[in-house]
Amino acid sequence: MTDVLILGGTGWLSGRIARAWVEAGASVTCLARGGRPAPEGAALVVGDRDSADAYDAVAGREWDEVVDVSSNPAHVAAALEAVGARTAHWTYISSVSVYARADVVGGDEQVETLEPTGPGEPSDYGRDKAAAEASVRAVAGDRAAIVRPGLIVGPGDPTDRFGYWVSRFALAGDEPVLVPDASGASAQVIDVDDLAAFAVHLGRERWSGIVNAVGDVHLLVDVLELARTAAGHTGEVVVEPADELIAHGVAHWAGPKSLPLWLPDDMPGFMTWRNEGFRGAGGTLRPLAETVDRTLADERARGLDRERRAGLTRADELAILGALA
Ligand SMILES: NC(=O)c1ccc[n+]([C@@H]2O[C@H](COP(=O)([O-])OP(=O)(O)OC[C@H]3O[C@@H](n4cnc5c(N)ncnc54)[C@H](OP(=O)(O)O)[C@@H]3O)[C@@H](O)[C@H]2O)c1
Repeated sequence: MTDVLILGGTGWLSGRIARAWVEAGASVTCLARGGRPAPEGAALVVGDRDSADAYDAVAGREWDEVVDVSSNPAHVAAALEAVGARTAHWTYISSVSVYARADVVGGDEQVETLEPTGPGEPSDYGRDKAAAEASVRAVAGDRAAIVRPGLIVGPGDPTDRFGYWVSRFALAGDEPVLVPDASGASAQVIDVDDLAAFAVHLGRERWSGIVNAVGDVHLLVDVLELARTAAGHTGEVVVEPADELIAHGVAHWAGPKSLPLWLPDDMPGFMTWRNEGFRGAGGTLRPLAETVDRTLADERARGLDRERRAGLTRADELAILGALA
C-alpha cells in the first residue's frame, strides 16, 4: 500500500488532497495541530510545525509520498530536513504568485520568479513560496513535483471569492446585481478536486518538475454569465466602470467590500497562465459549468446571506446601486 504523509490534511486543499489519496487506496497520515479532524480513513498525527519536535512521530518512517502545502519557508525547510531523505517523492503546492510578472499574457513556467525571501526578511506570500520552492529543489529536486496553482475554487473554499458571484446572483433573484465593467478581462480558475486529483496523479507517477495548475482562460464576463445562468438570476445586471466602483470604496480581487476576481488594469496576465504543462503531466479539468454548479450547491448549504470573507454585503451592494442610480 502506498504510504502518504500530508503535511496538513485538516484544511481545505490539503484536506481534499488527503481525501483523494484515501479514495485512491493509499494509507494516509495527516500532520496538523489537532484542532480539526483529518478526512475519514486518514490518520491524524498531532504536531505544531513551529516546534522543533513537530516531525518526531513521522520522521522514523519511510514515505512513498509527502505532500506539503505550507507557505511558511521555515516549515517547508524543516519538513524536508526531517523526512526528505526517507521519502520517495515530494509534492509541493506552491502558487502562480511566485511569478515576478503579472503583465505577461499567456506566460508559462519559464516566466521569471520572485527573489525568495531571505532569513530575517519580512514575510511576503509570493517570495515565501519562492523560498519554499528553493528548499524543495535543493533537497528533493530530482524527485519533487512543484505545483503552481492559480485561483483554486469549488466547494468549501474558505476565501469566499469565486463563490461570491453565483451566490450573489442566487440571492438577488429578480433584483439587480452590481458587476464591474471588465469587458476584456480574463478569468482562470482550477476546481479544488481537479487539483487534488492532479496531486495524487503526480505522486503515483512520481512526476518531477515544475508545473502550473490552472484551468482554461475564460473571459470574466462569460464566467459571470455562467454563474448568473446557474443561479437563475433574472434581475438587471448593472455594469459599472472601475472609477465609479473605486469612488464607492469597492476593492479589486478579494477581501471585504470587493468585487472578487476583478483585477486592476496593470495585471492583464495574472489569470492567463498556459496550462499545456498541466495537461501534459496528466492533469484533467471538469467543465467550468460543473464547478459553478458544485459551488452553488455548497453556497446554498453554507447560506447565501452568510458573512463572507470576500465580496460586498448585499446591504453595501444595494447602497452603492442606489447611489449610482
Ligand atoms: N486558495 C487559492 O486560490 C490558492 C491559490 C494558489 C495556491 N494556494 C496555496 O494552496 C495552499 C493550500 O491552501 P489552503 O488554505 O487550502 O490550506 P490548507 O489545506 O488549509 O492547509 C493548511 C494545513 O496546514 C496545517 N497547519 C497550519 N499551520 C500549522 C502548524 N503550525 N503546524 C502544523 N500544521 C499546520 C493546517 O492544519 P491545522 O490548522 O489543523 O493545524 C492545515 O491542515 C496554500 O499554501 C496556498 O498558498 C492557494
